[in-house]
Amino acid sequence: MKLLTIVGARPQFIKAAPFSRAVRHNHTEILVHTGQHYDPLLSDVFFEELSLPRPDYHLGVGSGTHGRQTGQILERAEEVMRKERPDAVVIYGDTNSTLAGALAAAKLAIPVAHVEAGLRSFVRHMPEEINRVVADRLSTWLFAPTWTAVENLRKEGVPVAEGDPTTYNLKPTTYLTGDIMCDALRQNAAIATEKSRVLERLALRPGEYVLATIHRAANTDDVDRLGEIFDALALLHEPVIVPLHPRTKAALLGTDIKVEPAVRIVDPVGYLDMLQLQRHARTVLTDSGGVQKEAYLLGVPCVTLRDETEWPETLAGEWNVLAGADCERILRAARRPRPATSPPPAFGDGHAAERMVGILARSVG
Ligand code: UD1
Ligand code: UDP
Repeated sequence: MKLLTIVGARPQFIKAAPFSRAVRHNHTEILVHTGQHYDPLLSDVFFEELSLPRPDYHLGVGSGTHGRQTGQILERAEEVMRKERPDAVVIYGDTNSTLAGALAAAKLAIPVAHVEAGLRSFVRHMPEEINRVVADRLSTWLFAPTWTAVENLRKEGVPVAEGDPTTYNLKPTTYLTGDIMCDALRQNAAIATEKSRVLERLALRPGEYVLATIHRAANTDDVDRLGEIFDALALLHEPVIVPLHPRTKAALLGTDIKVEPAVRIVDPVGYLDMLQLQRHARTVLTDSGGVQKEAYLLGVPCVTLRDETEWPETLAGEWNVLAGADCERILRAARRPRPATSPPPAFGDGHAAERMVGILARSVG
């Protein structure tokens, strides 16, 4: 089987690592980097840490408006797909790279496998919601990470594969595989503990700091929301560490939002440092999808700086609480007591990638 995998943004490098490892045992993978993320701290570091193979093609699109970025990836990915003629194209998540990869493949009648299918925020103006809805519609294999995702797709009319089917067809079908970020976390948690020196480097004591990440357009592009979030970080009156996404850095520069000294802005960190920072945080504040899940899997209370989540499983037992961008709500959520019971399992067994490769190989192989 010959697969062509499209990646372009930070979380996609992390998701592609377990998949690449699983597929390359017995099959061929052509790895395409769109260039959506290009800063070394948003891209190269993950290839090095996760031993992700060097991309076979780099499309070099860089930043731009949604239309320009999506259009350039579409045009350049199409060229690569015409040349390589893979059996299937694999896309991850909900970025502009995901959407463009799905469109390029579908127009060439190459079947698409969508890893992380079926997630919905039900907020139609959110760029990621547009990307994931279209990507799902164009996909043949919808690899759902959770039961919620399966149910979302069922309501949209996509049939679900029951159990472990022995016959496969190329009709759009949902497969419950578990979450590939859970694979990545399990493969790297012990390595992070062994290798990461981030706590020493930042002089942080386990359990005595808050970790915050902010990059969602709804927060960065709205000065009132961004201001409320930074007010809340300051009012926590404890060390807050913020590995800052370049989008948020640029947004802050254009405002008069004051960042208090207890709120420590640092460059984005690598995956191993990020796992370590999350594991030892007293609590995590984030608008990231991936970070909500990782906090849950690591048993660290989370406050989501949004009004909805695509990962409602994380709300179980108040391990995650939605606080929007409202200073009072954020403070209340961040100060809530640590949940008494462990987070129930929700994201699979850490073998999602092998399951996906098996399904693909039996379908096209
Ligand atoms: C993108 C995804 C988002 C995902 C996030 C992961 C879309 C629409 N959004 O958001 O779903 O959660 O990646 O991190 O695809 N920039 C740099 N250096 C880089 C990359 C970006 O400075 O290497 C800056 C540029 O100013 C750019 C801005 O960040 O305009 C936004 O980058 P972009 O890739 O468009 O979206 P993200 O906010 O990163
Ligand atoms: N991450 C990282 N360094 C950082 C911030 C995040 O390695 O400075 C990792 C994080 O652990 C998770 C993934 O990036 O695995 C989440 O990506 P991001 O928050 O950029 O996007 P989202 O998941 O919201 O699409």
